[in-house]
Amino acid sequence: MQILFDDKFIPRNQARVDIEDRGYQFGDGIYEVIRVYGGKMFCLEAHLRRFAKSASEIRMELPHSPERLQILLEELVRTNGLTEGNVYLQASRGTAPRNHPFPEHCRSQVVAYTMEASRPLQTLKEGIRAITDRDIRWLRCDIKSLNLLGAVLAKQNAVDRGCQEAILHRDGRVTEGSSTNVFMVREGTLITHPADNLILHGITREVVLELAREEGIPVREEAPSVEALFRADEVFITSTTMEVAPVISIDGRTVGEGSPGPVTRRLQNAFEKQIG
Ligand code: PDD
Repeated sequence: MQILFDDKFIPRNQARVDIEDRGYQFGDGIYEVIRVYGGKMFCLEAHLRRFAKSASEIRMELPHSPERLQILLEELVRTNGLTEGNVYLQASRGTAPRNHPFPEHCRSQVVAYTMEASRPLQTLKEGIRAITDRDIRWLRCDIKSLNLLGAVLAKQNAVDRGCQEAILHRDGRVTEGSSTNVFMVREGTLITHPADNLILHGITREVVLELAREEGIPVREEAPSVEALFRADEVFITSTTMEVAPVISIDGRTVGEGSPGPVTRRLQNAFEKQIG
């Protein structure tokens, strides 16, 4: 397998990361996960826009323009013959003697590689079980940063309880999942946290909101309370890798009928047409 390392393609086992890479030591960097369907990256431009936005928010200069990065990633997918899977893209601020402030002479380090993965078809049909957990992350969750410890601990709490996702809440309000955005349906209206600093502005979230508008499903972007989540008719999560996945139980309590609800299924069908 070839990986993209700066602007070169090299075999994975030839890549070397310095022990003083700031991504490695401080989580000082950003990333994207991009889905590949039929050999083509889905919503690539939106991912590259978000990547550039994350870089600018942490005051990091990227070595490639979005246009150049697009060409490099397309070549990566082609070279590895990836048809179904994901592209992982990250940039760290680079390597310099360990010290918190930005180093003066430091070039950001871009890495990208491909992963084969089939669509989570069974999960889409049957749904997932979730827990609720306190959102202990920082206040800039809109930046797709490499600091994922808050997400890792929440996801592990879910796994420890036999579940697949942790739905996070801050001050009694549902923010998002540990690696997904969260939607609920109440009396036919779709409700999800507004795209502010407390959540990642998910690209799948944006696609789903657009599809809901096209389908004539009313949408409210407001943070639901945890109690409202428990009373919801339907709950689902969205992400690049999970698509539109129904949530059938939360903290052991059944959501709605305990199976994917009608609004969720409508949005799943509409999403399926987008990627087809
Ligand atoms: N996770 N919220 C968080 C905290 C995320 O990490 C992600 C993505 C999302 C969904 O965003 P999108 O629809 O753009 O994938 C929401 C990626 C897939 C990951 O870390 O693996």
